[in-house]
Amino acid sequence: MLEETRNELLMNVGEGTPMGELMRRYWMPIGAVSEFDDKETRTVRLMGEELVLYKDLSGTFGLVDRHCPHRHADLSYGFVEETGLRCNYHGWLFDEQGDCIGQPYEDTVDPEQKLRAGCSVKAYPVEAKAGLLWAYLGPKPVPLVPNWEPFSWQNGFVQIVFTEIPCNWFQCQENSCDPVHFEWMHANWTTRLKEEGGDYVPTHLEVDFEEFEYGISYKRVREDTDKENPLWTIGRHCLWPNALYTGDHFEWRVPVDDDTTLSVGWFFSRVPNEMEPYVQESIPSWVGPLVDEKTGRWITSHVMNQDFVAWVGQGARSDRTKEHLGRSDRGIAMIRKRFLDDIKAIENGEDPKAIIRDEKVNECVKFPLIGAEMMIDGYPKEMLENTDSPMVRSKRQFIFQAGQPEHVTKAYEAAMGFKTDKGGLTGR
Ligand code: FES
Ligand SMILES: [Fe+2]
Repeated sequence: MLEETRNELLMNVGEGTPMGELMRRYWMPIGAVSEFDDKETRTVRLMGEELVLYKDLSGTFGLVDRHCPHRHADLSYGFVEETGLRCNYHGWLFDEQGDCIGQPYEDTVDPEQKLRAGCSVKAYPVEAKAGLLWAYLGPKPVPLVPNWEPFSWQNGFVQIVFTEIPCNWFQCQENSCDPVHFEWMHANWTTRLKEEGGDYVPTHLEVDFEEFEYGISYKRVREDTDKENPLWTIGRHCLWPNALYTGDHFEWRVPVDDDTTLSVGWFFSRVPNEMEPYVQESIPSWVGPLVDEKTGRWITSHVMNQDFVAWVGQGARSDRTKEHLGRSDRGIAMIRKRFLDDIKAIENGEDPKAIIRDEKVNECVKFPLIGAEMMIDGYPKEMLENTDSPMVRSKRQFIFQAGQPEHVTKAYEAAMGFKTDKGGLTGR
């Protein structure tokens, strides 16, 4: 059980709060590069700050304060120029550094442009990586955007999915170090949700947690596995500060504000060897729905939607002073402790966990991965046709979130070499 002060400490990410200062030391995924194929600006709310993300005509991304320093018009209605974003009210122009580089009327009447100097706008660095747009709201020197090994994999179809979840980010991230919930929330609950029912899956017999450089690994032995199994020898990983990596995808839980989290999923589907070489022109992104239109209840059919049900069910801000942790929750306790320790570390001027500043290290940030060989070397197409294993089923349908748009499904099927006319690809 956690006392009230530390409970609050873990959740609040506003500017100037201890956790807010800590989380500002990390790059956060906030959007997708492909979103800007057909738009110029988008509002962003990140750690309580109201911002505008834009791509100017030269292709530079910027993330600036939502309100113009002149008389506070909404810059998300501004328009982009070769360099920068122009306010639509009186035409002031700002670049990605936040500098005011144009004040049309003022520039006309005062060739010395004296007013410009004090009129810069708050601006944060943006970097594109792995099809995602990343933002950094922290102090300088700016660390590197982690170049996680899966970002370098070739011959894969990648898609990015966003969903805004109405609850605090920290309870979402606690789910990243929670092995037992897979058995109940995903496997057994899914069985119960099916009309035809079925047996419960093999239960967990032992779990363990281990901190490593970039996160905390969780390891498990189930009735059907032993300590030779990679689920024990390698495990899965809660990555720092706000991600989960399992097998073929990342999930980030990005703090929008203290009561809202942006779930960002990055999914890699290795194409069969027969479809190589596969080069993806553009990584699609889409927004996954939360609510089942028919019932008005949360969607429960897909893996991450099930997680969302757990997170929001804990309340907008989970009250950790009233919980009852068991032995399966040791990973949760480890996450909390590391964050609380790192709050002190940054107060002492140290870097918190998993900050990467070394270019050499960042060429490819490796962590122990189950099944990486298959992602790298691929597999024969017949593997997708001749078996009904869960692994294959998950390749034939997008199991992680409901609402995949048809154009993404089609692009995926084409990449994988599926023949839709033969059936088997309906129902997502
Ligand atoms: S309010 Fe933006 S230019 Fe006037
Ligand atoms: Fe889950």
